[in-house]
Amino acid sequence: MKNILLIGGSHGIGLEIAKNLSATHNIIVASRTAEHLGDMNLKHITFDASTDTLDLSALPESLDGFVYCPGSINLKPFKNLKIEQFQEDLEINYIYMVKIFQTILPKLLASPQASVVLFSSVAASTGMPFHSSIAGAKAAVEGFAKAVAAEFAPKIRVNTIAPSITNTPLADKFLNSDVKTERAAERHPLKKVGQPQDIAQMAQFLLSDNASWITGQVFHVDGGMSTLNL
Ligand SMILES: NC(=O)c1ccc[n+]([C@@H]2O[C@H](COP(=O)([O-])OP(=O)(O)OC[C@H]3O[C@@H](n4cnc5c(N)ncnc54)[C@H](OP(=O)(O)O)[C@@H]3O)[C@@H](O)[C@H]2O)c1
Repeated sequence: MKNILLIGGSHGIGLEIAKNLSATHNIIVASRTAEHLGDMNLKHITFDASTDTLDLSALPESLDGFVYCPGSINLKPFKNLKIEQFQEDLEINYIYMVKIFQTILPKLLASPQASVVLFSSVAASTGMPFHSSIAGAKAAVEGFAKAVAAEFAPKIRVNTIAPSITNTPLADKFLNSDVKTERAAERHPLKKVGQPQDIAQMAQFLLSDNASWITGQVFHVDGGMSTLNL
């Protein structure tokens, strides 16, 4: 049984990870809301990454897994994006994650081998119009993940998952009608949008000992979007 901290886990991809793992692992979900967690066997900490510092006394002595789920999708032409938007996207996707990583580092190092799973986006590696803010923030995540994977090998594995559009509350405004969903599906070689379980399954694998020889990688779970040009 591993001790796994999910920042986010109350909905979207993180909730699916919590559902998959709560029966077999000690899951701690830190998020602002908890209404979708139901009677799952896990610990919830009310926590806002933008304002709060994690209370280490609420966590176990060692952490074997850490997943940071908060993110954003603000798509606008570059000329309409205010600098504050770049700052906000960088903060929620990257800076708050770095702050939490530093806070829990001693607990990750106390594990025989910890696994950290971070989220990027297909937009970090594939140029897409109107994605300049999120692409920059997620590219920061990818670069950071590789650097800390090197710095903490072999004690901490750090990997990144880069999804394309996935059916979660975050992406709702892009998928809230059949027409939008069909158009989004059509843009992907595999002709569908992602489901939270598609991404959660990859996260679950990376957290497990089956991935014990995998670190510093970016996994493109994106219906083929980033590499295939049909
Ligand atoms: N969905 C997509 O299409 C897509 C595509 C590419 C990349 N991604 C990336 O994948 C990751 C997960 O996305 P998702 O779609 O599952 O997102 P989501 O549906 O918005 O879920 C995000 C989770 O993070 C928590 N969270 C958000 N802000 C927080 C804060 N300030 N403090 C604490 N917890 C916070 C939320 O819980 P509370 O609201 O309860 O706090 C929720 O549990 C993100 O990094 C996203 O950028 C998603």
